[in-house]
Amino acid sequence: MTYQKHYQELLTLFEAYLPEAFPKLAPEVATLEEAARYSLMAGGKRLRPILLLSVLEAAGEPLKPALPFAAALEFIHTYSLIHDDLPCMDNDDLRRGKPTNHKVYGEDVALLAGDSLLTEAFRLISAPERLHDYGAVTVLAVVQNLSTQAGNFGMVAGQMADIQADQHQGEPKLLEFIHHHKTGALITSSLELGGLLAGLDQTVVSKLGLFGNALGRCFQIQDDILDLTGTEAAIGKPVGSDQRNQKLTYPSLFGLERSQALAEAAYQEALTQLALTGLKDNRLRQLTDFVLKRNR
Ligand code: IPE
Ligand code: IPE
Ligand code: MG
Ligand code: MG
Ligand code: MG
Repeated sequence: MTYQKHYQELLTLFEAYLPEAFPKLAPEVATLEEAARYSLMAGGKRLRPILLLSVLEAAGEPLKPALPFAAALEFIHTYSLIHDDLPCMDNDDLRRGKPTNHKVYGEDVALLAGDSLLTEAFRLISAPERLHDYGAVTVLAVVQNLSTQAGNFGMVAGQMADIQADQHQGEPKLLEFIHHHKTGALITSSLELGGLLAGLDQTVVSKLGLFGNALGRCFQIQDDILDLTGTEAAIGKPVGSDQRNQKLTYPSLFGLERSQALAEAAYQEALTQLALTGLKDNRLRQLTDFVLKRNR
């Protein structure tokens, strides 16, 4: 089976579950539910859920009971996109090929739709069914990992550094901090959660984390490159957003050619780290290829 077909299969499994993962809300707050579902169901690559599922697959563990954890990653990722697009952040009008959440529902609702998705993620993964399927100790480790990597020690920290960075006085070290946190952290968590749910040794989970760090760097360098070289139709978001916002990015600091070389280096590093996990890694290798070569 080609990797594209395999990815599609995982995607189909995930997409079939995702709508039921988000709860039906009271009629008084029907708009909150609608707004959250609008961004959640707008599409997207679903990379983080696919990463989690791919680790379980590599470990020979069942995928179905892990779907709520995959959905929680997508909830948090989607919330980060809704907030990232707000006028007070990147001020973008297009996301996943559709008008951004605040363009449709207004900034107040978009803010709350993000809050709703973030909180719901933790409600979903701490539900009694999860304790039944994986045990309280594993679920607690998952909650600790995800809250660390999504918040003050991960994505939120990266977004904070991102909005304060000065494009003209940026240092490679600061750029590395931003990308490692704003994007690498959730990608790393996706892999580590897969490892925790599969019951892998802590040493293997840590090695998956090192793979995630390199994969996350590769992913965000490509994101920066696509902001310059991509097409709106393919990436589903405005081209040139980083330049308009004078963002500190790989191309702004190193230029396009050097950025492409650095993405390639991160890709090689990811493959090296992946091999060190000792997992049956052919699908994860192919997923790493996809991250480097993607045009969306
Ligand atoms: C975009 O993430 C935001 C970043 C962290 C770079 P994705 O490129 O994974 O966006 P979707 O989920 O496919 O829309
Ligand atoms: C944001 O990075 C990463 C998030 C945590 C949302 P970007 O601002 O570069 O993401 P895009 O390009 O808008 O998707
Ligand atoms: Mg941003
Ligand atoms: Mg943005
Ligand atoms: Mg970007």
